[in-house]
Amino acid sequence: MKVFNTTADMSSWSKTIRRERKKIGFVPTMGALHSGHLELVNRAIKDNDVVACSIFVNPIQFNNPEDLNKYPRTFKKDAEMLKALGCDVIFHPDTKEIYPEPETQKYDFGNLERVMEGRYRPGHFNGVAIVVKKLFDIVMPDRAYFGEKDFQQLAIIKALVRKEKMKVGIVSCPTVREFDGLAMSSRNMRLNTQQRENAPLIYQTLCKAKNMYPKHSVEVIKAEVERIINGNPHMKLEYFEISDTETLEPVKEPKPESPVVGCIAVYMDEVRLIDNMLFNL
Ligand code: PAJ
Repeated sequence: MKVFNTTADMSSWSKTIRRERKKIGFVPTMGALHSGHLELVNRAIKDNDVVACSIFVNPIQFNNPEDLNKYPRTFKKDAEMLKALGCDVIFHPDTKEIYPEPETQKYDFGNLERVMEGRYRPGHFNGVAIVVKKLFDIVMPDRAYFGEKDFQQLAIIKALVRKEKMKVGIVSCPTVREFDGLAMSSRNMRLNTQQRENAPLIYQTLCKAKNMYPKHSVEVIKAEVERIINGNPHMKLEYFEISDTETLEPVKEPKPESPVVGCIAVYMDEVRLIDNMLFNL
């Protein structure tokens, strides 16, 4: 497995592969890899001739400096896991390599970036879009793999690819969960024993909300979610929305005929966790 730190080395490898008419699968990550990331890599290996994975903690998508500082960095272990899976390349640039100059690009994703994560993390999706566009230009993949765990991010990436007319197939992969339902996340490493024991309540609450839909009104379901989450002494609900899976517009009343997704963000003391669940499947 090769590890490239520079844009020039990464691009030069991709150009050689493309000349050989081989398909490149790409999995962008911020490292601290867990089984959720590894599933994306496995899927990419299955679908393509070669697979590249990027590990880059993208500073411009963090709107909280403490979150950026505390973001786990475990490159050595990540590289071992990727090698064991059969990943061909890791792209591991430093910040100067990706941002030689301050970034000024400003994307407009309309309503997609104004709801939920976009509302509570201003600038976050602009930072994600900028880095993903740069990574796609450098790696030049045929297909790129993203998790449904970050449902809104997936919608933003699809919009980005349409907007920039990029020739990259976006493949979405289901959320991988711990044995007790907690969605895998690099941030779970920051939970202490007691927080970790309480954390599956997020998944359980989504299951309950899914069961209530569409029999109960959106208002009643939202009130129940708030009651359960805020009833836990470690947890504070930031938002819970039932949204159209395409536009991410919050639905006001149950729409049994069109697919909706329940999206939640919870502060587990100081650690922010997100999750989601498709409701009418
Ligand atoms: P990161 O949080 O490292 O996630 C990398 C990819 O793994 C994303 O597509 C994410 O949705 C997926 N993923 C994370 N947890 C998952 C789980 N439990 N099940 C399935 N997939 C999961 O998302 C980012 O990094 C960054 O925003 C990035 C796209 C790399 C841009 O910086």
